[in-house]
Amino acid sequence: MSSDPRVFNFLKERIGLDVASVGEAIIERAVRQRSQAVHAQTADDYWQQLQRSHDEQQALIEAVIVPETWFFRYPESFATLARLAKARLAEIKQMRALRILSLPCSTGEEPYSIAMALLDAGLAPHQFKVLGLDVSPLSVERARRGVYGKNSFRGADIEFRDRHFSESADGFHISERVREQVRLQVGNLLDPTLLANEASYDFVFCRNLLIYFDQPTQKQVFDVLKGLTHEDGVLFIGPAEGSLLGRHGMKSIGVPQSFAFSRHVEPVKPEPVFAPIPAPPPPPRSAAALPVKPRPFSTFSAQVVPIKAPPSDAADLLSQIATLANEGKSAEARAACERYLSNHPPAAQVFYWLGLLSDVAGSALEAQGFYRKALYLEPQHPQALMHLAALLESQGDSAGARRLQARAARSERADSESKR
Ligand SMILES: C[S@@+](CC[C@H](N)C(=O)[O-])C[C@H]1O[C@@H](n2cnc3c(N)ncnc32)[C@H](O)[C@@H]1O
Repeated sequence: MSSDPRVFNFLKERIGLDVASVGEAIIERAVRQRSQAVHAQTADDYWQQLQRSHDEQQALIEAVIVPETWFFRYPESFATLARLAKARLAEIKQMRALRILSLPCSTGEEPYSIAMALLDAGLAPHQFKVLGLDVSPLSVERARRGVYGKNSFRGADIEFRDRHFSESADGFHISERVREQVRLQVGNLLDPTLLANEASYDFVFCRNLLIYFDQPTQKQVFDVLKGLTHEDGVLFIGPAEGSLLGRHGMKSIGVPQSFAFSRHVEPVKPEPVFAPIPAPPPPPRSAAALPVKPRPFSTFSAQVVPIKAPPSDAADLLSQIATLANEGKSAEARAACERYLSNHPPAAQVFYWLGLLSDVAGSALEAQGFYRKALYLEPQHPQALMHLAALLESQGDSAGARRLQARAARSERADSESKR
């Protein structure tokens, strides 16, 4: 059964999914699976069933979403959140609980990480509440269950597991203390009535969703996210999404690898770069060294000190990424990619490296997303074409792999002809 553009449009309108971001083959495979499940004989038959049945619409959405997540993904962002949260509580004179949103929350690792980070930082349970939303009812159900396998604990430091989980035969169970901080519900970021009557949030996490949207949808969604974030609040996004936000009136708060943005902070100049230190008191330094303006969260600025600046020049950074990746220093290479995307316009080569690093780490779907992003920016990027082809081949999509190989060969031929 060949691809039906009506299904692509349905997914775009319903959940914002841009087919180009994950590739037609993934959607086609999901449609094939669903067509078999509902015994549809033709593409049109499936389309009719899809239109008639809300359950089938939901089943198709479940089949195409990318629920990839893990606890304390980008750990620095949680350390930053903890510092900002304390400052924010002081600023509002502890008059109310902090409101924090995790959207999309997938299977719960992100909102529970937020709660663990804040409890570990010494916040009392009554001082904050977390709301997790995701378009996938299955993921939300798993999040509510709060039982996790080893794949949800990926970082080098998983000490938090001993503090906040109990182990049993079916996995690691999140503690009641953490669970009570988090409310979970189904919600679609594209729903115009989403959280319409709710007060805004001090902190909003919207990570690793925007990469699946095309630019008009990203713009639409940024306006929604901006509306959900308190005037003095902070929006956390994914590493590959930062370059988009600048165009929408929000600025990086300047803490490397936190991917945190607000309305009021002047972006940190590329040099010197400031990094957080774990605890006060701050070392004496001149007022000129302050990287951020007093708003938001004035006390936060007292906890950053200058460190040796990484190369700010795009070419230097690119060659540093290549060196680190080739030496097998994946975490450092990834960090350098993220630094690049925070400071420079998006580059195909950086998305290619992120794809490769995800590929090596076993995150095939994430890798595909990055390779496709590289190809979106540079349709003939040779390595991205070849690696994506290999990935598709390993997933049984030989036709998709052949198409990309042919594209790579055409680009190679054109390249060598132009050099003659
Ligand atoms: C890759 S996960 C990201 C989870 C987490 N934020 C993280 O960074 O680890 C993407 C999630 O987005 C959800 N999603 C996709 N489209 C959505 C939409 N329109 N509204 C809300 N959630 C959506 C999917 O169900 C999936 O769980």
